[in-house]
Formats: sequence, C-alpha cells, structure tokens
Amino acid sequence: MPEQVLRVTERIEIPRPDDWHVHFRDGDVLRSVVPHTSRVFARAVVMPNLRPPVTTVAAAMAYRARIVQAVPPGVAFEPLMTLYLTPTTTPEEIAVAAAHPAIVGVKLYPAGATTNAQAGVADLDSVTGVLEAMQELRLPLLVHGESIDPACDPFDREAEFVQKTLGPLIERFPRLRVVLEHVTTAEGAAFVRDAPDTVAGTLTPQHLLYDRRALFEGGLRPHMYCLPVLKRAHHRDALLEAATASDGKFFAGTDSAPHEIGAKESSCGCAGIYNSPTALQLYAEAFDLAGALPALEAFVSRNGPAFYGRAVNVERVALERRPCSVPESYPLGGGVVAPLRAGASVMWSIVP
Ligand code: DOR
Ligand code: ZN
Repeated sequence: MPEQVLRVTERIEIPRPDDWHVHFRDGDVLRSVVPHTSRVFARAVVMPNLRPPVTTVAAAMAYRARIVQAVPPGVAFEPLMTLYLTPTTTPEEIAVAAAHPAIVGVKLYPAGATTNAQAGVADLDSVTGVLEAMQELRLPLLVHGESIDPACDPFDREAEFVQKTLGPLIERFPRLRVVLEHVTTAEGAAFVRDAPDTVAGTLTPQHLLYDRRALFEGGLRPHMYCLPVLKRAHHRDALLEAATASDGKFFAGTDSAPHEIGAKESSCGCAGIYNSPTALQLYAEAFDLAGALPALEAFVSRNGPAFYGRAVNVERVALERRPCSVPESYPLGGGVVAPLRAGASVMWSIVP
C-alpha cells in the first residue's frame, strides 16, 4: 500500500500583524507587557483607560513616549494612540486629535461598563458636538458595546447595546467611522456585517476559542473572566464565521488586559484576560480548527490597515503547526500575571 500523504498546511507566512486593541497600563506593568506585544505585532492601538484616563492629545503623546521607551532595542513597533471620551471632551480637542498622525480614534466607555470606565459617558446626547466633529474629521469612535442598565443581564449587555444605542447612533451619524470592539455575540457580528463600510469590528482570541462553559470548568475560573463576558457556544460559532468571512469587516484586537494575579483570584475579581505572548498563535489555532487558515492573513494583517487607511506591514512572520508551551505566569511589575492557557500549550508556534 502506498503511504497516504496528508495534505495539511503545516506552515504559513503572512505580513507582520497588528493588534487593533490592547491594554498596556503604565509604569512597571507597561514595561513588563510592551515587549510581548511589540515582538510580534508591528503596531497596536493602545487603550486609554488608565487612572487617570488619557483624555487629551498631550497626555496621549506623553503616554506614547513611555511606551516607546519600553520597546526592546532593535524591535520596530508603532504605538497608535486613543483618547478616552468623557462628558467634558471638546470638539476642539477632537480637531487636534484628528490632525495628529499618531492618534487613531476616540474610545467610548459607557460609564462604569468595565475596568476604569467610571469617567466614561452615560448618555451619548451629552457628547453630540464631539461626535459631529469626529464624523466630519473621519476620526473613528472605538466602542465598548455594553449596556449599563443595571437591570440588564450581563450576558445580554452587548445585544442590548447594539439594539438600543449603537443602531440609533449610526442612524444619527451615518458617516461616523465606528469600530465595535471585542464583538462577542451573534447580534454584534450581524450588526457589523450588515452595516456600511464605515463600521468594523475587532475579535479577541478568547472569544474565538472559548464559550462561557470555560468560566465554570471544574470550578470558577477567574482567569477566563473578561468583559464583555464569554457567551454561549452558538455566539462563538457566529464570531468564527465573521472572522473567516471575506468581507474585510473584522480584524484582530486582542483586548489583552493584564491584571496582577491576586486581583483576578479574589472575592471580587477584575475583568481582563492576558493573551499578548501567544495571541497570534491562538488566532492561528482558532482559524485552523475552523478549517479556515487561508483567511488568517486578511484578519490579522490586512483588514485592520484597510479600515484605518494604513499600509500593510512589509515585514513577514511565519507560523508552523507545532505546539508552543505557555508558562504558568509572567512577571508583571512587582508581581505576576497568569496568561491565557497558563501551564498548557497552543497548537501553533511562531518560527523564530
Ligand atoms: O475584560 C476587560 N478588561 N474588558 C475591558 O473592557 C477592559 C479590560 C481592562 O482594562 O482590564
Ligand atoms: Zn479592551
């Protein structure tokens, strides 16, 4: 009998990817995490939910300088900055931001929706002038899409936000560029898919690989807790379909969000999953398991630059189907952080 030849892709090479949504924090923590992102991703959109939040272009540029300082020598990495939208943000500040080449968007946190979101916006009517300016100047609004109605079930917050807030917002501002960040539901994915090309979405590795059962596997799993929270399996199926579709509307945004291990393993644990060291490998695993490896390149390397009007990276990176092991923890400032898949492995590795 002739030997069966298994025709499976074992190696892929793609333009260096970008991470269109990441949390770097500041100080010692920043210095711990920036190397993980910058070694793999050529650019990253840095979220502004520091304490205090990054609300001005001047603050964003000072923060950017601290990020650049934390990039390892010899590594090419471009931080793309965002401003935190508050009820006191002015159209004048938006004009300065829109003219600045290193600012790519303004982040909407519904007030109190997530980590350090207290300074966010409770009522979008309070920022009408700012949204008008963003629409005119083509500065994208990056949206944490969750309802803040306390009566709303946590698993329904995204769908409710899309229906009650995002839909009407886009009707009022039909030319506003919008990214629905970390989409987690079939409703969110369908909204982005059916919206005009001014609307796009990011997807995280955890929401492509896990559903809400992972929060309760053998006990309560605080390291699987992020916001928006993992949803039912059928939502994950819809996200995989969105990620692997050829419409160019979705791109990689890891939402990697480091919290010190004690802040997660607590009676009131923080929301956030740290995935930067293996985010690209995890995306490859998700696409491979979905039988859609050829679609990975558009998702991690091409769709994001197209939406943000930037060039695709020239450098290339190769991945191979070979397990890479994930440590139990990484140093994080003076403490440690437990990454996604801690102590286990990912099916794909980056070729050194
Ligand atoms: O899980 C999350 N963590 N979701 C967010 O929206 C914020 C993030 C953080 O900053 O920790
Ligand atoms: Zn985030």
